[in-house]
Amino acid sequence: MTTAKPDAGEVRTLAPEGVAGRFRATFGGAPRVYRAPGRVNLIGEHTDYNDGFVLPAAIDLAAFVAAAPRDDRVLRVAAADLGRHAELALDAASEPQPARDWSDYAFGVALELERAGHRLRGADLLVTSAVPVGAGMSSSAAFEVAVALALLDLAGIALDPVAVARLCQAAENRFVGTRCGIMDQFASCRGRAGHALFLDCRSLDVREVPVPSDLAIVVCDSGVSHALADGAYNERRAACEEAVRILGRGRPEIRALRDVGEDELERRRGELSEVVWRRCRHVVRENARVVDAVRALDTGDRNRLGALLRASHESLRSDYEVSCVELDLLVEAASGRDGVVGSRLMGGGFGGSTINLVRPDAVPEVEGELRDAYRKRCGRDLGVHVCRVGDGAGRVL
Ligand code: GLA
Repeated sequence: MTTAKPDAGEVRTLAPEGVAGRFRATFGGAPRVYRAPGRVNLIGEHTDYNDGFVLPAAIDLAAFVAAAPRDDRVLRVAAADLGRHAELALDAASEPQPARDWSDYAFGVALELERAGHRLRGADLLVTSAVPVGAGMSSSAAFEVAVALALLDLAGIALDPVAVARLCQAAENRFVGTRCGIMDQFASCRGRAGHALFLDCRSLDVREVPVPSDLAIVVCDSGVSHALADGAYNERRAACEEAVRILGRGRPEIRALRDVGEDELERRRGELSEVVWRRCRHVVRENARVVDAVRALDTGDRNRLGALLRASHESLRSDYEVSCVELDLLVEAASGRDGVVGSRLMGGGFGGSTINLVRPDAVPEVEGELRDAYRKRCGRDLGVHVCRVGDGAGRVL
């Protein structure tokens, strides 16, 4: 089952002054403004929660939070794009429960910060975002990180970007209930203009890899999000954990799929169910592909890079089973076209977007052809974002 998103592809440009103006109109007073970007991921999907490798980059689409302190310990949040408000008393007698809506991202972050021992001030916050929702570009992480920066700064607390990323991930795991890895929050906090982040999700060691300026990043938003995506995501993670439990019986130093090589996986195939074995094969091979892709970027080997993206998509489709008809069609339509280096589904899957690496001069033609193909074959409009690789989150006013 699929649901259409009304705003697929629509992008609004946001300026800090404009966001501050909306705050003034809502709450009055002069706010500070914080910005946290969404991300793309060149390669390395469903590897982060397996202690593996990823290669994301922060982009120029971001969430903004305008915020001012209050004298009490109440948080009031206005979601400007939705026309909704929510409130949380940090000293409430009973433990706050998730509302199962947008406000969970904001309050989950606040509760996680307090849980970690950071005493917050009450605040009025206005949030607005240009990161498309449900497009696999980390709109949730951008929202969480912008809120975290605002709450920490208003309370006079300085934390390094990695600590902020960890706390936001914990908020999403615990309060929102998605057992995501650290990639999205890390990229939003730590992004660097013009660079992808080759991240080791176990040690959190990072190497900044230049993204060549003659490689355009074109994200194609299918505009569909498949119901049950969150449940299926958690299920994939559970399958990986089951494999680690079983494989760890023979070799206790296996703490995550990161510690398993392809040879060992092949040798011990009989210990796992067929489905769990295929999930593992994706993760193990995808980790190797990330390392290879970094090498291909370093050496300027476009053919190799393209082949790795293609193999990643194929593996996500058949071994990890997180693709869908629309994404397969988009990858098919892009592959082999003049000017397209590579194409694959991006993010958690089950709808959302594909990432396409394209020669800049070919972008208009490729974009036109993909739009036409998508309209003809799926009967809906494609959202297309040509993303610039930008800096990570910070205060902007
Ligand atoms: C989502 C999660 C990330 C990561 C990707 C898949 O974006 O938030 O942590 O697992 O899916 O690579």
